[in-house]
Amino acid sequence: MIALARNNLPQTDFSPVFNEAGRVGVSKLTLTDFRNYSHLRMEMDSRPVVLTGSNGAGKTNILEALSFLIPGRGLRRAKLVDVARIKTGNDNLPSSALWAVAASVQNFNDITDIGTGCEKRTSFENASERRVVRIDGQQAKSQADLGNVLTAIWLTPDMDRLFQGGASARMRFLDRLVYAFDPNHAKRTAAYTHAMKQRTRLLKENVGDKSWLSVLERTMAEQGIAVAAARKEIIARLIKVMSESEGPFPVANLALDGLVEEWLDDMPALKAEDKLCEFLEKDRNIDAIKGSASSGVHKTDLKVWHIEKCMNAALCSTGEQKALLIAMILAQAKAQVATNGKAPILLLDEIAAHLDEDRRKTLFEELCSLNAQSWLTGTDVGLFKELGNRAQFFHVHDSKVSMKNRIYAVN
Ligand SMILES: Nc1ncnc2c1ncn2[C@@H]1O[C@H](COP(=O)(O)OP(=O)(O)O)[C@@H](O)[C@H]1O
Ligand SMILES: [Mg+2]
Repeated sequence: MIALARNNLPQTDFSPVFNEAGRVGVSKLTLTDFRNYSHLRMEMDSRPVVLTGSNGAGKTNILEALSFLIPGRGLRRAKLVDVARIKTGNDNLPSSALWAVAASVQNFNDITDIGTGCEKRTSFENASERRVVRIDGQQAKSQADLGNVLTAIWLTPDMDRLFQGGASARMRFLDRLVYAFDPNHAKRTAAYTHAMKQRTRLLKENVGDKSWLSVLERTMAEQGIAVAAARKEIIARLIKVMSESEGPFPVANLALDGLVEEWLDDMPALKAEDKLCEFLEKDRNIDAIKGSASSGVHKTDLKVWHIEKCMNAALCSTGEQKALLIAMILAQAKAQVATNGKAPILLLDEIAAHLDEDRRKTLFEELCSLNAQSWLTGTDVGLFKELGNRAQFFHVHDSKVSMKNRIYAVN
Protein backbone atom coordinates (compact mmCIF):
# COMPACT_ATOMS: atom_id res chain seq x y z
CA MET A 1 0.00 0.00 0.00
CA ILE A 2 2.74 2.39 1.00
CA ALA A 3 4.93 1.31 -1.93
CA LEU A 4 2.06 1.99 -4.31
CA ALA A 5 1.55 5.42 -2.83
CA ARG A 6 5.25 6.23 -3.23
CA ASN A 7 5.25 5.21 -6.90
CA ASN A 8 2.25 7.40 -7.43
CA LEU A 9 4.03 10.50 -6.19
CA PRO A 10 3.22 13.29 -8.60
CA GLN A 11 6.00 14.29 -10.95
CA THR A 12 7.15 17.88 -10.94
CA ASP A 13 6.85 19.88 -14.11
CA PHE A 14 9.39 22.58 -13.38
CA SER A 15 13.14 22.25 -13.77
CA PRO A 16 15.12 23.22 -10.72
CA VAL A 17 17.50 26.03 -11.55
CA PHE A 18 20.65 25.90 -9.50
CA ASN A 19 23.68 26.87 -11.46
CA GLU A 20 22.76 30.51 -11.89
CA ALA A 21 25.13 32.61 -9.79
CA GLY A 22 26.74 29.48 -8.40
CA ARG A 23 24.16 28.91 -5.72
CA VAL A 24 24.42 26.12 -3.19
CA GLY A 25 21.43 24.29 -1.85
CA VAL A 26 19.23 21.25 -1.66
CA SER A 27 17.45 20.35 -4.88
CA LYS A 28 15.70 17.17 -3.70
CA LEU A 29 14.67 16.14 -0.23
CA THR A 30 13.18 12.82 0.84
CA LEU A 31 12.07 11.97 4.36
CA THR A 32 11.12 8.48 5.47
CA ASP A 33 9.49 7.88 8.83
CA PHE A 34 10.85 11.20 10.01
CA ARG A 35 8.73 12.84 12.76
CA ASN A 36 5.20 13.26 11.37
CA TYR A 37 6.18 12.23 7.82
CA SER A 38 5.76 8.68 6.63
CA HIS A 39 7.18 9.60 3.26
CA LEU A 40 7.87 13.02 1.83
CA ARG A 41 9.64 13.92 -1.38
CA MET A 42 10.15 17.50 -2.45
CA GLU A 43 12.04 19.18 -5.25
CA MET A 44 13.28 22.72 -5.00
CA ASP A 45 15.20 25.24 -7.00
CA SER A 46 17.71 27.68 -5.59
CA ARG A 47 15.26 30.40 -4.56
CA PRO A 48 14.26 30.86 -0.91
CA VAL A 49 11.85 28.10 0.14
CA VAL A 50 8.84 29.32 2.12
CA LEU A 51 6.93 26.72 4.13
CA THR A 52 3.62 27.92 5.52
CA GLY A 53 0.93 26.11 7.45
CA SER A 54 -0.82 26.06 10.78
CA ASN A 55 0.77 25.14 14.10
CA GLY A 56 1.78 21.48 14.23
CA ALA A 57 1.56 21.06 10.46
CA GLY A 58 5.16 19.83 10.15
CA LYS A 59 7.14 22.91 9.06
CA THR A 60 9.88 22.81 11.71
CA ASN A 61 10.21 19.07 11.18
CA ILE A 62 11.31 19.73 7.59
CA LEU A 63 13.95 22.20 8.82
CA GLU A 64 15.05 19.65 11.40
CA ALA A 65 15.43 17.03 8.63
CA LEU A 66 17.64 19.46 6.70
CA SER A 67 19.70 20.10 9.84
CA PHE A 68 20.62 16.40 9.86
CA LEU A 69 22.42 16.90 6.55
CA ILE A 70 25.34 18.35 8.52
CA PRO A 71 27.23 16.77 11.43
CA GLY A 72 25.63 16.97 14.85
CA ARG A 73 22.33 16.36 16.58
CA GLY A 74 20.11 18.53 14.43
CA LEU A 75 18.32 21.71 15.37
CA ARG A 76 16.32 20.20 18.21
CA ARG A 77 19.29 18.30 19.65
CA ALA A 78 16.96 15.33 19.78
CA LYS A 79 17.83 11.76 20.59
CA LEU A 80 18.03 9.70 17.40
CA VAL A 81 15.13 7.46 18.39
CA ASP A 82 12.83 10.40 19.18
CA VAL A 83 13.05 11.56 15.59
CA ALA A 84 11.54 8.33 14.26
CA ARG A 85 7.88 8.64 13.35
CA ILE A 86 5.60 7.42 16.07
CA LYS A 87 3.57 4.91 14.13
CA THR A 88 -0.07 4.28 14.62
CA GLY A 89 -2.38 1.41 13.69
CA ASN A 90 -0.98 -1.36 11.52
CA ASP A 91 1.59 0.58 9.49
CA ASN A 92 4.40 -0.61 11.74
CA LEU A 93 6.67 -2.11 9.09
CA PRO A 94 9.52 -4.26 10.35
CA SER A 95 12.72 -2.48 9.39
CA SER A 96 16.22 -1.90 10.71
CA ALA A 97 16.07 1.70 9.49
CA LEU A 98 14.19 3.85 11.99
CA TRP A 99 14.20 7.00 9.90
CA ALA A 100 16.01 8.43 6.93
CA VAL A 101 16.66 11.75 5.25
CA ALA A 102 18.04 11.83 1.72
CA ALA A 103 18.97 14.89 -0.27
CA SER A 104 20.62 15.98 -3.46
CA VAL A 105 22.91 18.87 -2.72
CA GLN A 106 23.76 21.15 -5.59
CA ASN A 107 26.95 23.17 -5.47
CA PHE A 108 27.60 25.08 -8.68
CA ASN A 109 27.11 22.30 -11.25
CA ASP A 110 28.05 19.44 -8.92
CA ILE A 111 25.41 17.26 -7.36
CA THR A 112 26.17 15.19 -4.27
CA ASP A 113 23.66 12.72 -2.86
CA ILE A 114 23.55 12.52 0.88
CA GLY A 115 21.67 9.93 2.87
CA THR A 116 21.51 9.87 6.63
CA GLY A 117 19.38 8.23 9.24
CA CYS A 118 19.20 6.07 12.26
CA GLU A 119 19.62 2.32 12.15
CA LYS A 120 18.73 -0.13 14.82
CA ARG A 121 21.32 -2.77 15.59
CA THR A 122 20.29 -5.81 17.51
CA SER A 123 23.02 -8.01 18.87
CA PHE A 124 22.76 -11.03 21.12
CA GLU A 125 23.00 -8.86 24.23
CA ASN A 126 21.35 -5.59 23.43
CA ALA A 127 19.78 -3.31 20.87
CA SER A 128 21.26 0.05 19.99
CA GLU A 129 20.72 2.84 17.50
CA ARG A 130 23.33 4.61 15.46
CA ARG A 131 23.46 7.38 12.92
CA VAL A 132 24.47 6.26 9.45
CA VAL A 133 25.73 8.54 6.70
CA ARG A 134 26.10 7.83 2.99
CA ILE A 135 27.66 10.22 0.54
CA ASP A 136 27.11 9.41 -3.14
CA GLY A 137 26.07 5.91 -2.14
CA GLN A 138 29.22 5.18 -0.13
CA GLN A 139 29.10 4.74 3.61
CA ALA A 140 30.98 7.69 5.16
CA LYS A 141 33.68 7.05 7.78
CA SER A 142 32.10 9.57 10.10
CA GLN A 143 29.30 12.08 10.06
CA ALA A 144 31.97 14.80 10.08
CA ASP A 145 32.37 14.08 6.32
CA LEU A 146 28.98 15.73 5.78
CA GLY A 147 30.63 19.03 6.62
CA ASN A 148 32.59 18.84 3.36
CA VAL A 149 29.38 18.65 1.33
CA LEU A 150 27.03 21.09 2.99
CA THR A 151 26.98 23.66 5.75
CA ALA A 152 23.88 24.99 7.45
CA ILE A 153 23.01 27.66 9.99
CA TRP A 154 19.69 27.95 11.75
CA LEU A 155 17.67 30.30 13.89
CA THR A 156 14.72 28.88 15.78
CA PRO A 157 12.28 30.38 18.29
CA ASP A 158 14.13 28.42 21.02
CA MET A 159 17.10 30.69 20.39
CA ASP A 160 15.12 33.81 21.33
CA ARG A 161 16.64 33.60 24.79
CA LEU A 162 20.14 32.76 23.61
CA PHE A 163 21.63 35.90 25.14
CA GLN A 164 19.92 35.39 28.51
CA GLY A 165 20.56 31.70 29.04
CA GLY A 166 23.73 29.84 29.99
CA ALA A 167 26.99 30.12 28.06
CA SER A 168 26.85 26.60 26.58
CA ALA A 169 24.01 27.40 24.12
CA ARG A 170 25.81 30.56 22.97
CA MET A 171 29.05 28.66 22.49
CA ARG A 172 27.23 25.89 20.56
CA PHE A 173 25.80 28.60 18.30
CA LEU A 174 29.25 30.10 17.78
CA ASP A 175 30.85 26.70 17.23
CA ARG A 176 28.29 25.90 14.53
CA LEU A 177 29.40 29.06 12.74
CA VAL A 178 33.01 27.89 13.01
CA TYR A 179 32.16 24.37 11.69
CA ALA A 180 30.59 26.00 8.68
CA PHE A 181 34.01 27.46 7.86
CA ASP A 182 36.11 24.58 9.00
CA PRO A 183 34.59 21.08 9.44
CA ASN A 184 37.71 20.08 11.42
CA HIS A 185 36.58 22.35 14.24
CA ALA A 186 34.00 19.68 15.13
CA LYS A 187 36.76 17.08 15.46
CA ARG A 188 38.84 19.42 17.63
CA THR A 189 36.01 20.26 20.02
CA ALA A 190 35.14 16.55 20.26
CA ALA A 191 38.78 15.60 20.96
CA TYR A 192 39.02 18.34 23.61
CA THR A 193 35.81 17.23 25.35
CA HIS A 194 36.82 13.57 25.19
CA ALA A 195 40.22 14.25 26.79
CA MET A 196 38.60 16.47 29.45
CA LYS A 197 36.06 13.76 30.38
CA GLN A 198 38.78 11.10 30.61
CA ARG A 199 40.89 13.39 32.83
CA THR A 200 37.92 14.07 35.11
CA ARG A 201 37.18 10.35 35.40
CA LEU A 202 40.79 9.54 36.18
CA LEU A 203 40.91 12.25 38.85
CA LYS A 204 37.61 11.18 40.41
CA GLU A 205 38.67 7.56 40.53
CA ASN A 206 41.93 8.71 42.08
CA VAL A 207 43.92 6.50 39.72
CA GLY A 208 47.07 8.57 40.24
CA ASP A 209 48.48 7.82 36.79
CA LYS A 210 50.44 11.05 36.40
CA SER A 211 51.86 10.34 32.97
CA TRP A 212 48.41 9.49 31.55
CA LEU A 213 47.01 12.66 33.15
CA SER A 214 49.79 14.66 31.49
CA VAL A 215 48.96 13.15 28.08
CA LEU A 216 45.28 14.06 28.50
CA GLU A 217 46.13 17.57 29.68
CA ARG A 218 48.46 18.09 26.72
CA THR A 219 45.66 16.95 24.38
CA MET A 220 43.26 19.38 26.06
CA ALA A 221 45.80 22.16 25.68
CA GLU A 222 46.61 21.46 22.01
CA GLN A 223 43.01 20.99 20.92
CA GLY A 224 41.72 23.75 23.22
CA ILE A 225 44.11 26.39 21.90
CA ALA A 226 43.19 25.45 18.32
CA VAL A 227 39.48 25.72 19.24
CA ALA A 228 40.00 29.13 20.85
CA ALA A 229 42.01 30.41 17.88
CA ALA A 230 39.30 29.29 15.41
CA ARG A 231 36.59 30.98 17.50
CA LYS A 232 38.59 34.20 17.65
CA GLU A 233 39.10 34.14 13.92
CA ILE A 234 35.39 33.75 13.17
CA ILE A 235 34.53 36.58 15.52
CA ALA A 236 36.97 38.88 13.75
CA ARG A 237 35.42 37.97 10.38
CA LEU A 238 31.86 38.52 11.60
CA ILE A 239 32.70 41.90 13.12
CA LYS A 240 34.37 42.98 9.88
CA VAL A 241 31.40 41.97 7.69
CA MET A 242 28.83 43.48 10.08
CA SER A 243 30.69 46.76 10.34
CA GLU A 244 30.70 47.02 6.54
CA SER A 245 26.96 46.36 6.12
CA GLU A 246 24.31 49.00 6.00
CA GLY A 247 20.61 48.82 6.69
CA PRO A 248 18.23 48.23 9.56
CA PHE A 249 20.00 45.26 11.11
CA PRO A 250 22.10 46.22 14.12
CA VAL A 251 25.84 45.89 14.21
CA ALA A 252 26.99 43.63 16.98
CA ASN A 253 30.25 43.67 18.79
CA LEU A 254 31.37 40.21 19.78
CA ALA A 255 34.03 39.08 22.20
CA LEU A 256 35.13 35.89 23.84
CA ASP A 257 35.23 36.01 27.60
CA GLY A 258 37.75 33.42 28.74
CA LEU A 259 41.18 33.08 30.24
CA VAL A 260 42.59 31.06 27.36
CA GLU A 261 41.47 33.69 24.85
CA GLU A 262 43.17 36.38 26.98
CA TRP A 263 46.41 34.41 26.86
CA LEU A 264 46.11 34.11 23.09
CA ASP A 265 45.93 37.91 22.89
CA ASP A 266 49.20 38.21 24.79
CA MET A 267 51.37 35.28 23.80
CA PRO A 268 52.06 32.83 20.97
CA ALA A 269 49.82 29.74 20.72
CA LEU A 270 52.53 27.33 21.89
CA LYS A 271 53.12 29.37 25.05
CA ALA A 272 49.36 29.42 25.70
CA GLU A 273 49.29 25.61 25.35
CA ASP A 274 52.07 25.27 27.95
CA LYS A 275 50.25 27.65 30.26
CA LEU A 276 47.01 25.66 30.05
CA CYS A 277 48.95 22.47 30.81
CA GLU A 278 50.48 24.17 33.87
CA PHE A 279 47.06 25.31 35.12
CA LEU A 280 45.50 21.89 34.63
CA GLU A 281 48.36 20.15 36.46
CA LYS A 282 48.21 22.65 39.33
CA ASP A 283 44.42 22.17 39.70
CA ARG A 284 44.33 18.37 39.72
CA ASN A 285 43.35 18.12 43.41
CA ILE A 286 40.62 20.71 43.28
CA ASP A 287 39.31 19.36 39.95
CA ALA A 288 39.11 15.88 41.49
CA ILE A 289 36.79 17.29 44.17
CA LYS A 290 34.80 19.47 41.77
CA GLY A 291 34.46 16.73 39.15
CA SER A 292 35.31 19.16 36.35
CA ALA A 293 38.25 21.08 34.91
CA SER A 294 38.74 24.58 36.39
CA SER A 295 40.47 25.94 33.29
CA GLY A 296 40.02 25.49 29.58
CA VAL A 297 37.97 26.60 26.61
CA HIS A 298 34.79 24.95 27.95
CA LYS A 299 34.66 27.88 30.42
CA THR A 300 34.54 30.52 27.68
CA ASP A 301 31.46 32.63 27.03
CA LEU A 302 30.44 34.70 24.03
CA LYS A 303 29.63 38.33 24.85
CA VAL A 304 27.49 40.28 22.43
CA TRP A 305 26.75 44.01 22.44
CA HIS A 306 24.37 46.11 20.40
CA ILE A 307 26.87 48.76 19.27
CA GLU A 308 24.42 51.56 18.46
CA LYS A 309 22.66 51.20 21.80
CA CYS A 310 25.85 50.50 23.76
CA MET A 311 23.88 47.72 25.34
CA ASN A 312 24.63 44.15 26.31
CA ALA A 313 22.49 41.95 24.02
CA ALA A 314 20.91 40.30 27.06
CA LEU A 315 19.33 43.66 27.94
CA CYS A 316 17.98 44.36 24.44
CA SER A 317 14.33 43.78 23.51
CA THR A 318 13.31 40.39 22.06
CA GLY A 319 13.01 41.94 18.59
CA GLU A 320 16.43 43.60 18.89
CA GLN A 321 17.97 40.31 20.01
CA LYS A 322 16.43 38.53 17.05
CA ALA A 323 17.79 41.26 14.75
CA LEU A 324 21.26 40.83 16.28
CA LEU A 325 21.15 37.09 15.64
CA ILE A 326 19.99 37.63 12.07
CA ALA A 327 22.77 40.19 11.54
CA MET A 328 25.26 37.59 12.77
CA ILE A 329 24.07 34.77 10.53
CA LEU A 330 23.84 37.00 7.47
CA ALA A 331 27.40 38.13 8.19
CA GLN A 332 28.44 34.49 8.50
CA ALA A 333 26.86 33.57 5.17
CA LYS A 334 28.53 36.53 3.44
CA ALA A 335 31.90 35.79 5.05
CA GLN A 336 31.67 32.16 3.94
CA VAL A 337 30.88 33.11 0.37
CA ALA A 338 33.74 35.62 0.36
CA THR A 339 36.19 33.10 1.80
CA ASN A 340 35.46 29.82 0.06
CA GLY A 341 32.54 30.55 -2.26
CA LYS A 342 30.46 27.99 -0.40
CA ALA A 343 27.34 29.43 1.13
CA PRO A 344 25.55 27.69 3.98
CA ILE A 345 21.86 26.89 3.72
CA LEU A 346 19.92 29.07 6.15
CA LEU A 347 17.09 27.52 8.15
CA LEU A 348 14.98 30.32 9.57
CA ASP A 349 12.12 29.03 11.67
CA GLU A 350 9.24 31.44 12.36
CA ILE A 351 11.47 34.40 11.77
CA ALA A 352 9.32 36.80 9.75
CA ALA A 353 6.65 37.19 12.45
CA HIS A 354 9.08 38.86 14.85
CA LEU A 355 10.45 41.47 12.49
CA ASP A 356 9.04 44.89 11.70
CA GLU A 357 8.23 45.54 8.04
CA ASP A 358 11.47 47.37 7.30
CA ARG A 359 13.65 44.60 8.69
CA ARG A 360 11.53 41.89 7.06
CA LYS A 361 11.91 43.51 3.64
CA THR A 362 15.66 43.94 4.14
CA LEU A 363 16.00 40.33 5.26
CA PHE A 364 14.22 39.15 2.11
CA GLU A 365 16.44 41.36 -0.06
CA GLU A 366 19.54 39.96 1.62
CA LEU A 367 18.34 36.36 1.29
CA CYS A 368 17.60 36.83 -2.41
CA SER A 369 21.00 38.34 -3.07
CA LEU A 370 22.98 35.71 -1.14
CA ASN A 371 24.17 32.65 -3.01
CA ALA A 372 22.67 30.63 -0.19
CA GLN A 373 19.40 28.74 -0.28
CA SER A 374 17.22 29.82 2.60
CA TRP A 375 14.28 28.01 4.14
CA LEU A 376 11.67 30.09 5.95
CA THR A 377 8.64 28.96 7.90
CA GLY A 378 5.60 30.81 9.14
CA THR A 379 1.91 30.41 9.79
CA ASP A 380 0.88 33.39 7.70
CA VAL A 381 1.76 33.38 4.01
CA GLY A 382 0.98 37.12 3.90
CA LEU A 383 4.22 37.84 5.78
CA PHE A 384 6.20 36.61 2.79
CA LYS A 385 4.31 38.42 0.07
CA GLU A 386 7.19 40.81 -0.71
CA LEU A 387 9.18 37.80 -1.85
CA GLY A 388 6.74 37.24 -4.73
CA ASN A 389 8.13 34.95 -7.38
CA ARG A 390 11.65 35.42 -6.07
CA ALA A 391 10.76 32.55 -3.68
CA GLN A 392 9.03 29.17 -3.97
CA PHE A 393 6.05 28.60 -1.72
CA PHE A 394 4.99 25.29 -0.20
CA HIS A 395 1.96 24.73 1.96
CA VAL A 396 2.28 22.22 4.79
CA HIS A 397 -0.90 20.63 6.03
CA ASP A 398 -1.69 17.37 7.76
CA SER A 399 1.76 15.84 7.06
CA LYS A 400 1.50 16.70 3.38
CA VAL A 401 3.36 19.38 1.49
CA SER A 402 1.86 20.96 -1.57
CA MET A 403 3.02 23.51 -4.07
CA LYS A 404 0.22 25.03 -6.07
CA ASN A 405 -1.79 21.90 -6.92
CA ARG A 406 0.96 19.36 -6.41
CA ILE A 407 1.03 17.18 -3.32
CA TYR A 408 4.45 16.11 -2.12
CA ALA A 409 3.74 13.73 0.71
CA VAL A 410 1.71 10.61 0.81
CA ASN A 411 1.09 8.94 4.12
N1 LIG B 1 8.43 11.30 16.39
C1 LIG B 1 7.28 11.82 15.95
N2 LIG B 1 6.37 11.03 15.29
C2 LIG B 1 5.21 11.55 14.81
N3 LIG B 1 4.87 12.84 14.95
C3 LIG B 1 5.72 13.66 15.60
C4 LIG B 1 6.98 13.20 16.12
N4 LIG B 1 7.61 14.23 16.70
C5 LIG B 1 6.81 15.31 16.55
N5 LIG B 1 5.68 14.97 15.89
C6 LIG B 1 4.57 15.83 15.50
O1 LIG B 1 4.89 16.56 14.36
C7 LIG B 1 3.93 17.62 14.26
C8 LIG B 1 4.54 18.78 13.51
O2 LIG B 1 5.53 19.41 14.29
P1 LIG B 1 6.30 20.71 13.80
O3 LIG B 1 7.05 20.45 12.56
O4 LIG B 1 7.07 21.20 14.96
O5 LIG B 1 5.08 21.70 13.49
P2 LIG B 1 5.09 23.19 12.95
O6 LIG B 1 4.44 23.16 11.60
O7 LIG B 1 4.27 23.97 13.93
O8 LIG B 1 6.49 23.66 12.91
C9 LIG B 1 3.49 17.91 15.67
O9 LIG B 1 2.10 17.70 15.74
C10 LIG B 1 4.23 16.91 16.51
O10 LIG B 1 3.45 16.37 17.54
MG1 LIG C 1 7.36 25.11 14.09
